[in-house]
Amino acid sequence: MSNMTIRQISFSDIKPLSKIILELYEEAPYFLTFKEKPSIKTLILILSTKVAMAEDKKIMDMVATDAFGTLMAECEILPKTGKNIIGILVKKEFRGNGVGSTLLNFCIDNLRKLGALEFYAEIDARNHLALSFFKKNGFKQLSAVAVPNSDNVQENETKIITMVLR
Ligand SMILES: CC(C)(COP(=O)(O)OP(=O)(O)OC[C@H]1O[C@@H](n2cnc3c(N)ncnc32)[C@H](O)[C@@H]1OP(=O)(O)O)[C@@H](O)C(=O)NCCC(=O)NCCS
Repeated sequence: MSNMTIRQISFSDIKPLSKIILELYEEAPYFLTFKEKPSIKTLILILSTKVAMAEDKKIMDMVATDAFGTLMAECEILPKTGKNIIGILVKKEFRGNGVGSTLLNFCIDNLRKLGALEFYAEIDARNHLALSFFKKNGFKQLSAVAVPNSDNVQENETKIITMVLR
């Protein structure tokens, strides 16, 4: 997409991003890692922490805006236990235009310059959009693990696919 700007997340993104996250949750809860629908208060708290961590360079968290400054997408990369774990979302109306791929590769290229070698994505097996998106961007499936959704009830198991880019 032309006229797309990529910049670090800021406190002004919290409100529009919370809205996008709630929309995503309504679309398909398995797009996100929340166990239940987050309240707006919870989202503001999580996102405020993320903004502060990005400003302290503890995580990478970038957003993409269109020519009018409208927030289209967010990509976070968490250096959890030495791995670089990716979380990415694109507002529904902007999908399928390369916004996600451009933002993802911008973040990966920048972290590679800082020495990162491997990138991971943990995706719900029902999330075909994300599975084909990461595959298209060079990720390979590493493992598929069944995890209990809640209370160890077996019928409630979710299959999590881990994908890696080396
Ligand atoms: C996965 C996701 C980030 C991809 O973003 P995107 O901007 O649509 O990605 P791109 O346009 O770069 O690539 C889209 C790919 O998805 C598929 N796609 C095609 N049309 C699409 C559409 N209208 N909507 C969504 N995906 C489409 C195709 O595989 C396409 O590849 P192609 O360009 O070779 O046809 C986005 O679908 C999303 O936000 N999903 C919900 C959140 C999520 O599941 N995140 C991943 C968890 S970490």
